[in-house]
Amino acid sequence: MKIVVIQGPNLNMLGHRERNIYGPMKMEDIHTQMKSFATQNNLEIEFFQSNLEGEIVDRIQECIGEADGIIINPAAYTHTSIAIRDAISAVQLPTMEVHLSNIYQREEFRHKSMIAPVCSGQITGMGPFGYHLAMVAMHQVFNEIRAMREQQVAQKSQQA
Ligand code: DQA
Repeated sequence: MKIVVIQGPNLNMLGHRERNIYGPMKMEDIHTQMKSFATQNNLEIEFFQSNLEGEIVDRIQECIGEADGIIINPAAYTHTSIAIRDAISAVQLPTMEVHLSNIYQREEFRHKSMIAPVCSGQITGMGPFGYHLAMVAMHQVFNEIRAMREQQVAQKSQQA
C-alpha cells in the first residue's frame, strides 16, 4: 500500500519560519521519521512539497491508480482552496489532513478548513507528531479496507 504525503506552501521553511508556532523541526526531518514508520510497517511512501496551488492539484490527481491514501497539510490553502478540495473529492482516496499548529486556537481566518469535509480525518495542533498520528490512522484505514475486501471475496466464494 502506498501513501503520498503532500506539503503545501511555506512548509519547506519549517525550522526557520515562526519557530514559536511551528517548532524547530525541518520538513525533511519529519519525512525521515515518516519514512521509518513506513518501512517498519511495509508501506510505500512518497513526499511532495509545492508552494503552488495548481501543482498540488496535479499531484493529487496523479494519485489515481498510484496511491492508496494521501496525507496532506495544505498549509494556507486549507483556508482558501476549493480547487484542492475538489481534487481530493475527485480522486476518492482516504485522505488525512494534518496541521502542526491548532488552527482553531489561532486567527479566525484559520478556523475554516475548505478541505476537512472531504477528508477521512483531521489532526491539528500536535506538532510534527501529528504526521506520525496520520500515518497510524492511515495504516488502520488500510487494514480495514483489506479486511473488507477479504470478507467480500469470502462471501462471493460461498455464493459460488
Ligand atoms: C498550517 C496552518 C495554516 O493555517 C498555515 O497557513 C500554515 C501551516 C499548520 O501546519 O499549522 O502554513 O497548516
